[in-house]
Order: sequence, then structure tokens, then C-alpha cells
Amino acid sequence: MTPEELKALVRTVPDFPSPGIQFRDITTLIRHGEGLTATVSWLADSARDAGAQAIAGMEARGFIFGAAVAIELGIGFVPVRKPGKLPVATIGIDYQLEYGTDRLEIDPSLIDQGERVVLVDDLIATGGTACAAAELLRRAGAIVERAAFVIDLPELGGAKKLGGIGVATQALMD
Ligand code: PRP
Ligand code: ADE
Repeated sequence: MTPEELKALVRTVPDFPSPGIQFRDITTLIRHGEGLTATVSWLADSARDAGAQAIAGMEARGFIFGAAVAIELGIGFVPVRKPGKLPVATIGIDYQLEYGTDRLEIDPSLIDQGERVVLVDDLIATGGTACAAAELLRRAGAIVERAAFVIDLPELGGAKKLGGIGVATQALMD
């Protein structure tokens, strides 16, 4: 499938979750077998090129794509979770979203020192989520040099905020 065909599978919902937000909804993309397969395969190529030894995905939509990529590459998956979900000692960080604030946590014992971890998520907007996830993984000892997203909202400047991390995106949307 072409990037344009994949982009057409993303549904846009105006004014969700708050007025003025154009919500880019990937449920229509993942419901489409060929679209889902092509998207996971593209994300996996990006992670493989970056030498991924593990994939980290951000709750919740990053779990869908991240776990699929890890399976495709035959490597493990690290869940980056919303607060209070992990049953062990965690490290956490608060961050800002396009439509609010939130917190992410990981179990640092899941990371091997010097391990090359690639971030996978459905979308990058302000970059707050990806920056927070990368910071946590680095604090736990990972090397984070690549982040792969299905959708980039370039007007929000997230990809530029990621500094030393190479950002790969499949579809640019306004
Ligand atoms: C969405 C999306 C990304 C993040 C991108 O997740 O899945 O993780 O926002 O925004 P940012 O680049 O401005 O940080 P959300 O926090 O809405 O959670 P969800 O996946 O549970 O819906
Ligand atoms: N996460 C942050 N901004 C978003 C948007 N506009 N659509 C979907 N997910 C988002």
C-alpha cells in the first residue's frame, strides 16, 4: 500500500477530546487487515534498521503497534505505562500532551544496560510523550536513538523536540 492509501485509512474526528482538536483515529487503520500489516511491516523495517534489541511502546495505542513490531522482529517488548498500573517499583515522569498532562512509568529492571531500545507509537504531536518515554528508558540504562510513528503532526513540532533521536514517520498530517 502507498503512504497515501494508508493515510486515507486514518479517520479524523473533529473536536475530540476537546474543542479545536482534530483527533487522528487509528482504529479504522488497524481494522483494515492489509493496512495494519503494511503499517507494522514499515515500522518493523525502521526498528530493524536502527538495530533494535527491544521495542518500547507507550500506553495505549503504542502497545498495539509496538507489540506487533516486536513479534515481527522476534525481540521483546517493554510497556511504557500510565501511572499506577505496574505491580513493581517504577520510575516515572510527568509530561504535557496536546490536550492535557499525564504521567508515564516503566519498570527499570526490564532494561538491560546499554540495550538498544526503539520507541514505537501511533502518533507524535507535541513530542511530550516520546520525550518522556525516551528519558525514562535512558534513566534505566537503554540507548534510545530511533523512534518510529505511524503519524506525525508536524505543525506541533514534536519530531524536532526529540533531539538526538532519529524520528521515522509514515504519514504527515496537518
Ligand atoms: C496519544 C498518542 C501518543 C501521544 C502523542 O496518546 O497515542 O502517545 O498522544 O502526543 P504528544 O506527542 O503530544 O505527546 P494519549 O496520551 O492520548 O493516550 P492513549 O494512547 O491512551 O489514547
Ligand atoms: N495525541 C495527541 N494529539 C493527537 C491528535 N490530534 N490525534 C490523535 N492523538 C493525539
